[in-house]
Amino acid sequence: MRQKIVAGNWKMNTTADEGQKLTSEIVNMVQDEISADVQVILAPPFTHLQSVGKLIGSSKKIALAAQNVNENESGAYTGEVSAGMLQSVGVEWVIIGHSERREYFKESGEQLAKKINAALKGGLRPIFCCGEPLEVREKEEHEGHVKQQLQDSLFHLSKEQISKVVIAYEPVWAIGTGKTASAGQAQEMHKSIRRQIAEKWGEEVAGQLRILYGGSMKPDNAKELMDQPDVDGGLIGGASLKSRDFLQIIKSA
Ligand code: PGA
Repeated sequence: MRQKIVAGNWKMNTTADEGQKLTSEIVNMVQDEISADVQVILAPPFTHLQSVGKLIGSSKKIALAAQNVNENESGAYTGEVSAGMLQSVGVEWVIIGHSERREYFKESGEQLAKKINAALKGGLRPIFCCGEPLEVREKEEHEGHVKQQLQDSLFHLSKEQISKVVIAYEPVWAIGTGKTASAGQAQEMHKSIRRQIAEKWGEEVAGQLRILYGGSMKPDNAKELMDQPDVDGGLIGGASLKSRDFLQIIKSA
């Protein structure tokens, strides 16, 4: 059985105080109400990582993630943050290749491959995002599009390295739009991703790999999505900013 993961991507939201309040609520609720074996991950903005990490404390159920990492180890890269820096403040996971970074910051597949390498080298576990924009879905080329994204940024990894990666399938047309992929559409893509992993690294690796769904996952659709055999949890944007909603989604896992 693959352990489910529910990760909250706060994006560029919350002040430090708001972030602390949200974290305290989540930590308390998870402690009191979640008995199931679910890995919860919080990805606040860089500025909140240390304070959020302190509130999470030694809770095994909740881990800390960054939303981005630079591909270089150190040096003259003004405004950037390295894997080593993240690790030094207790970060365990990092989101790489989110569609917003691909679109607004022009991150290419090749650059994302370097970020994956930097994260793994720095002891972080990548949550690698992939997914097709609307026009690609409408042309029914979504499977090939995602396959290319996997090839460009992950296919150079060894078996041992890919085992540390979690994939998040996030159809771009569903992110922040209130439009969710149907459970059937999500399952079809997750199955296709798992098949590609199996073809490249074998059935055992593919059987253990966690594939999260992201894109307007909410309390009222989380259960149906997460009940799909190849959906191993969720990467949650908007709904992760409301502790009650986030908890409901964790419960659905
Ligand atoms: P959303 O974002 O839940 O607000 O659609 C998901 C994501 O971008 O990871």
